[in-house]
Amino acid sequence: MEKQKKPIQPDKVLVNLEGVQDESYRITFAQGLFPSQIQRHIQLVKKKKKLKIHRLAIITDSRLKRIYGKQLTSLLGENTSVFHVPAGEASKCREMKNLLEDKLVAAKFGRDSAIIAFGGGVIGDLAGFVASTYYRGIPYFQIPTTIISQVDSSIGGKTAIDLPSGKNLIGSFYQPKGVFIDVDLLDTLPEDEFVSGLAEVVKHGMIRDRRFIVFLEKNVSSILARDKKVLMETLKRSCKVKASVVSEDLKESNLRKILNFGHTVGHAVETLSNYKLHHGKSVSIGMAVEAHIAHKVGYLPEEDVHRLCWLLERFGLPVELPKGLSPGKIIEVMGFDKKNEKGIIHFTLPSAMGEMKENKGQYGLQVNMDEVEKALDELVK
Ligand SMILES: NC(=O)c1ccc[n+]([C@@H]2O[C@H](COP(=O)([O-])OP(=O)(O)OC[C@H]3O[C@@H](n4cnc5c(N)ncnc54)[C@H](O)[C@@H]3O)[C@@H](O)[C@H]2O)c1
Ligand SMILES: [Zn+2]
Repeated sequence: MEKQKKPIQPDKVLVNLEGVQDESYRITFAQGLFPSQIQRHIQLVKKKKKLKIHRLAIITDSRLKRIYGKQLTSLLGENTSVFHVPAGEASKCREMKNLLEDKLVAAKFGRDSAIIAFGGGVIGDLAGFVASTYYRGIPYFQIPTTIISQVDSSIGGKTAIDLPSGKNLIGSFYQPKGVFIDVDLLDTLPEDEFVSGLAEVVKHGMIRDRRFIVFLEKNVSSILARDKKVLMETLKRSCKVKASVVSEDLKESNLRKILNFGHTVGHAVETLSNYKLHHGKSVSIGMAVEAHIAHKVGYLPEEDVHRLCWLLERFGLPVELPKGLSPGKIIEVMGFDKKNEKGIIHFTLPSAMGEMKENKGQYGLQVNMDEVEKALDELVK
């Protein structure tokens, strides 16, 4: 019999990346930050992080260029240029990424460049993704201009483009070097965008900060009147929740799932409206439905379901399923959500105002589909 050979022990060399990179960054809040203070703040970050940046490429959209073109020009030195794409979700695509890269190369932007994303979530996601692959990654900064981008998309380092077959299918985790939030930029934000963005603000209170929910309840009218002081406090507290969640779970392994509250049903509603219903409004409906499910399965007291719906409604957000949507259709679409592992539908559900239900340390909860169907049936008029 042949003697069994000892398995050869491969040689190993460790590529030690532990603690090599600190990707932390600051979110700076101020009124009147844009445009006069931006250069100074970027200089401060450059110095602190020892970044060698000699050229800046500002990426924005056509609508913002029309409104803020003059102020953007005032940011321009001989080493700065503005590039823009058409406003709207359709620009978060491969073609626009290619186009921007070609323009950057043609204008001789090299390794020593940085990108400033000036716009809403579309620009932040697209420009961030360009930055993450351009010259294998150059620094980028965010100047978010919508509520969604100020409290949500500019924090956490998720960058992406859409494919015809689905949203955010290609992208990367790539952190900005700094985020600059100027509440004055919201002056020009259309009412519909403003109100829709408040859904994510309510979500942040609901998932982690009961006192923030109380603050929102007390300040509905000032927020809707865009009172700067109250608005700034609202943005800051909302950002604090998002920042705390993403810094505890950078790559969405568990805790970060709580940010999906309202999004499982919300995405289905958004998809079934052919993306005609605004993301924020879909999420508002999603939160109302998911809170109802949480009640059905015994996690959330009924009074808290009402409290959440009342707050959303006072902000002018919808809490009822659009007419004609059947529960079966919603369940079918939810089954295709890419966040679901192996066809099993997971929810992240609240157990109180400001608190999410955990099961053995896990926030992704498997819910009996009959309960989901029952809850949806009750909500369909
Ligand atoms: N990366 C993330 O973690 C994350 C999180 C949430 C959402 N997102 C993404 O964000 C995108 C949605 O972002 P959005 O709602 O900001 O949309 P958006 O960027 O398309 O902006 C909405 C509209 O408002 C206009 N606008 C923006 N700021 C303005 C201002 N200050 N004044 C006047 N008009 C202004 C824009 O030109 C656009 O027409 C989606 O693509 C979504 O996938 C990403
Ligand atoms: Zn969202």
